[in-house]
Amino acid sequence: MAFMPFAWVRRVARLMRPLRVLVAQGWLRESDVDSTLALLHPALRLNRVFARVIERQWVADDMLELSLQANGNWSGAQPGQHLQLYLEHAGVRLSRSYSLTAVHTNGRLQVAIKHQAGGRVSPYLLEHLAVGDTLELGPVYGELSWPETPQPVLLLAAGSGITPLLGLLRAALAQGFSAPVTLLHYVRGQGQRAFIAELQALQAQYSNLQVRWSLTNAPVEPGELAGRFTATHLASVPQLMQRSVLACGPAGFVSQVQQWWHVAGLPGALQVEAFTPPTLSADSNLRQVTLSFARSHQHSVADNQRSLLEHAEMFGLKPAHGCRQGICASCTCTLLSGTVRDLRSGALFSEPGQPIRLCVSAPHSDVEIDL
Ligand code: FES
Repeated sequence: MAFMPFAWVRRVARLMRPLRVLVAQGWLRESDVDSTLALLHPALRLNRVFARVIERQWVADDMLELSLQANGNWSGAQPGQHLQLYLEHAGVRLSRSYSLTAVHTNGRLQVAIKHQAGGRVSPYLLEHLAVGDTLELGPVYGELSWPETPQPVLLLAAGSGITPLLGLLRAALAQGFSAPVTLLHYVRGQGQRAFIAELQALQAQYSNLQVRWSLTNAPVEPGELAGRFTATHLASVPQLMQRSVLACGPAGFVSQVQQWWHVAGLPGALQVEAFTPPTLSADSNLRQVTLSFARSHQHSVADNQRSLLEHAEMFGLKPAHGCRQGICASCTCTLLSGTVRDLRSGALFSEPGQPIRLCVSAPHSDVEIDL
């Protein structure tokens, strides 16, 4: 229950500066202040960003777009970035990152959520999260950006890779980008052509936009392509050799695009983002090490194959995390002693005080972490 209208929640953020000073000087605890503020409205906090769900819209058979209104602590984001969402479900705090499909100036933002079979977060968000509910928002991250040059653009998306690219496309068209843009979206079947109504409307409105779909696992209709990414799909893209290229999708798809781009020798820029975990480099010598999490007073035997994040969770700890791919930095902790191996590159790090990402670091020797 809320004793304060949500409109006030946004407005009072600036008025809470004296409380922040008292917390910073140790006179008050932030958790106590937040508990009291939450009684006034579930989205009211001293510093943390909470948002209210203001709209749910299905944009594909298996994808929902949520419109959220953030409280006054939201400092904004860029289209194409990803946002960490936190929720409490059955007494467990869960988090996942989702792409921002739109960012507005008034604290309103949109994210798209694809159903993940067997997942713990997306089924809850899709089936149970209601308009009026509140969620905590975490850090935003992501490097994809619309090219700064006025050259034509080629957008290549597979599956939910459409979501950050759509965020960028919406913003670019709204800001008057007038060079040719081709969006090619790879989906399994007709029902996965996310945002189809909006994309068709944008095509009708902007003569410089061309949208095509390729179906990888269903019969195609006139005008559609068939199968996974191949260079022949680009044969009809006008001014292909002048295009800046942005690609987003599973790692295998992104890798195919990169290979094509290097062979084709396009002079423009290529930006890619893969949303499946990177290939991890294995250490062929399996061995046991002692792993210590200093602040949690946990010491236990671990192996040198699994990530520190996995080990921490096996010990019953709940470190903050998001992407689990080494991208978002939300799992970063300080290495106190020992050597860790970066699971992506195999590089070793042993400097005390060094920040490390738990999700992509494995213990290489006995290790102590500030967690
Ligand atoms: S969880 Fe995102 S970097 Fe580790």
